[in-house]
Amino acid sequence: MANSASTPVSVYPHEHWSSRLAFVFAATGSAVGLGNVWKFPYITGQYGGGAFVLVYLVCIALIGIPIMMAEVLVGRRGGQSPIHSVRVIAHQEGKSSGWQIAGWSGVLGAFVILSSYSVVGGWALVYVWYAVSGAFHVAVADPAQASVAIKGIFSGLKASPAQLLLWHTVFMAMTVFIVARGVKAGLETAVTYLMPALFVLLVLLVGYAAVSTGKIVEGAAFLFRPDFSKLTWDAVLVALGHAFFTLSLGAGVMVAYGSYLPRHISIARASITVSILDTIVALLAGLAIFPVVFAHGLEPGTGPGLIFVTLPIAFGQMPLGAFFGTLFFVLLVFAALSSAISLLEPMVEYFQEHRGINRVTAALGAGAGVWSLGILSVLSFNHWEEVKVFGKNLFDLFDFITANIMLPLTGLLMAVFAGWVMSRASTQEELELDESLGYWLWHVIIRYVTPVGVAIVFLYNLI
Ligand code: PHE
Repeated sequence: MANSASTPVSVYPHEHWSSRLAFVFAATGSAVGLGNVWKFPYITGQYGGGAFVLVYLVCIALIGIPIMMAEVLVGRRGGQSPIHSVRVIAHQEGKSSGWQIAGWSGVLGAFVILSSYSVVGGWALVYVWYAVSGAFHVAVADPAQASVAIKGIFSGLKASPAQLLLWHTVFMAMTVFIVARGVKAGLETAVTYLMPALFVLLVLLVGYAAVSTGKIVEGAAFLFRPDFSKLTWDAVLVALGHAFFTLSLGAGVMVAYGSYLPRHISIARASITVSILDTIVALLAGLAIFPVVFAHGLEPGTGPGLIFVTLPIAFGQMPLGAFFGTLFFVLLVFAALSSAISLLEPMVEYFQEHRGINRVTAALGAGAGVWSLGILSVLSFNHWEEVKVFGKNLFDLFDFITANIMLPLTGLLMAVFAGWVMSRASTQEELELDESLGYWLWHVIIRYVTPVGVAIVFLYNLI
C-alpha cells in the first residue's frame, strides 16, 4: 500500500470475521430486517402483489447484487471504515480524495436511518409484550369491536412520547451493547444465534399460517401471480428503492462488513448468497402474513399498520394466536436488532480509526447521537404531529430522505467509484475473478446499467 505523508492510512488494528459463514450470517442479518418483515409485505400489499414482486426481484438481481459486490470489495480492499476505505483506494488509484464523500454520505445515511429504525424496533419490543399478555384477544365475540380496540393499541402507543421513548431507549441500548463488544464477540456472536433462530421462527409461522388458515394458496397467488395492469411507474421506483434498503446498500454497511472480510473468500459468491437469503426471508414473511390477512377478510394494502394492526386483529381471533403472535414479534425484534447493529458499525469503526477511541466509548458516543436524533421521530407521532416538511412529518421525512435519496445516491457513487474510478486490475484482483464472463458481466452492469437505473429513480424521487 502506498504510504506517503498524505496517505490517510490508519494504523487501527481491525478484527476479522472468523469464517465465510460468519460474514454471510452478519451480512444476511443486516439485510434481513424491518425491511423484509414490515416494509416488504405492506408495500407489496399497496402495490398490488405479483407484478410488483417480480420487478423487485429483477432489481435485486440486476442492481442489488452488483452494488453489494462493489461495496464489499471496496471495504475489503480499503480495510477500513467506509470513509477511510474510499479515501485510501482513491489515493492508491491516483484519484481525488474527494471521493470520500461516498463514504461520508453512507455513514450519514446510516446515522439517520438508525434513529428512526430504532423507534420501530421499539414498537416490535413492546408488541412482544402485548402479544404475551394477550392484549390482542379482546372481545373475540365481536370482531368489529376487537379491530377498534387493536387499532387503539397502536394509536395509543404512538400518542405516548414516554412509551415510545422508553422502548426506543431499550432498543438502542441493546444495539450499543452488542456493538460495544466488538466484531467477533459482539456482532458475530449475536448473528450466530439470531439468524438461525429467525429462520426457524419464520418457517414455523409459515406452517402455522398454512395450517390454521388454509389460505396459503391465496397468499402465494397474491405474491407470485403477476397482474401487470396493477403495475405503475411509481411501483417500479418503489421496488428499486426497496431493493437498496432491503440489501442494506448505500449506507456504508456492506463496506464496513467487507472491511472485516478475510482474503480469499469469494465476494461474488457471498453477495449472491446474502441476496438470495434476504429475498427468501421477504417472500416467506409474505407467505406468513398474507394467508392470515386473507383468511380474516382483511385488507392487504393498509400500509405501515399492516403488521401492527391488521396482523394482531387476525392473531386475536386465531387458535394459539397469542403464542404465534408472540413468536412473530420476537422474530421481528431479532430481524431489527441484527440490522441495527450493522447500521451502528460504520460510525463506530470510523471513530475507532479516527482518534483511536476505544470501541466501548465509540459505540456509546455514536449510540447517544443516534438516540438523540430518534427523539425527533418519537415526537413526530404526537406533540409534533403537525410539524410538516414538504408535507411529511419528521419520521416520514427521514424515511424519504434516506431510502429514496441518500441510499440510491450513495449507491450510485459507489457504483461509479468501483466501475470507473478503480482500475479494472484492482477490482479484478479483489473479486478474484480473472477475465471471465462473470467479471465482464459485473463490470458492464456496474458501469452502465446500475448508474443509469439508479439515476432514473433518483431524479424521479427528487421531482
Ligand atoms: N436492510 C435492512 C432491512 O431490510 C435495513 C438497512 C438499511 C440496514 C440500510 C442497513 C443499512 O430492514
